[in-house]
Amino acid sequence: MKHVLNEILLNMDLSGIRRFSEEANQVEGVVRLTIGEPMFDTPQNIKQAAIDALIANDTHYPFAQGLLSLRKACCEFEKKTQDLDYVPSEVIITQGATGGLFTAINTICQPMDEVIILLPSFTIYKPIVEFADAIPVLIDISEDDFQINEQKLRNVITSKTKAIIVNSPNNPSGISLSRQSNDILEKIVVEHDLYVLCDDVYNQLIFEDTDFLVRRKSIRENIIYIQSFSKPYAMTGWRIGYVMADQPVATQIAKVQSYGTSGVPPFVQQAAIAALSTDVTEMLDQYKSNMVQVSELLTSRGIPFVKPQGAFYLLVDISQCNMDSWTFARKLLHTEKVAVIPGEVFGAQMDRYVRTSLATDIKISLPAFDRIADFIRNNRQTVEETA
Ligand SMILES: Cc1ncc(COP(=O)(O)O)c(C=O)c1O
Repeated sequence: MKHVLNEILLNMDLSGIRRFSEEANQVEGVVRLTIGEPMFDTPQNIKQAAIDALIANDTHYPFAQGLLSLRKACCEFEKKTQDLDYVPSEVIITQGATGGLFTAINTICQPMDEVIILLPSFTIYKPIVEFADAIPVLIDISEDDFQINEQKLRNVITSKTKAIIVNSPNNPSGISLSRQSNDILEKIVVEHDLYVLCDDVYNQLIFEDTDFLVRRKSIRENIIYIQSFSKPYAMTGWRIGYVMADQPVATQIAKVQSYGTSGVPPFVQQAAIAALSTDVTEMLDQYKSNMVQVSELLTSRGIPFVKPQGAFYLLVDISQCNMDSWTFARKLLHTEKVAVIPGEVFGAQMDRYVRTSLATDIKISLPAFDRIADFIRNNRQTVEETA
């Protein structure tokens, strides 16, 4: 058979994170600082809720938009933590934030619509936009301290612009958008009548007080809020998250969720209800403590890095090595047996960084960061050498 397949898909690569992680898996005894997931197991009470639901035969087709009890719990949780006002009919339970982004983007985009993606960005935004036959418009904010430069943003807005995707705190930088950046975003989405997708999956993992765009009441109709149980509750494998949006948008997202997936397993949703009342302070404190210890180590070794304000990633600046980030990551992998993600996968300008993970056992990761520091110092090029 001649396999004629979707051209968009044929032109799409596997994510750089996936490609490099597969290379790293071939190396024995490697310390993996590549992973974007908690080092913790899912808390016992959450697992027990799923077990109880299974025993009670909560195994039938769910209502595709999600259990009413879970959607109510999401509304209460978001009211309490972020002062958001949504009702259960405006909530869609999805297959993680990934499923939420996929359904939301496919709900709002028509062919040739433009979606602005701020770089550095999580690697799935661009392919999801492309898969919807829309056009990703990339704008690098790393040179502006990872904040919004109003003019640069205005320069990429056209009559085709449909949405902006915002992720704060950000994967991979760990930087949160400032109040000033959010003021600019608020002004521009109103002026141009744009959707703004707030991918806030790390909003519980913050190391300092921060401003969140999603809280701005004046743009409630523009906001599509994407959430996940993966990161705060160590539930990456459960594949559950949610989307909140103004009723007309939510109604259509629910349709996409229904036709695309028929919903999330009900016993997983019962576990998610338990998650929302679980205290995760201990896990959050551990990430913060890891961040502080790694920052102190890198500072004492004279290695430049981007100090994260949240999430569990840390960008190490490798520009003094005069190597691209893939060469750096491969050499580090084979000589020091430490795996990190080449910054280039998050945007071309990010080639001067590698992304490390703070969500690993600090007893293992701290010596690995020491080896990264050794490696950078040994491969550092002086100004005379590079001239
Ligand atoms: C910014 C961001 N959004 C979304 C996701 C996807 O999360 P989920 O596991 O809920 O699909 C991730 C996962 O790494 C992420 O970093």
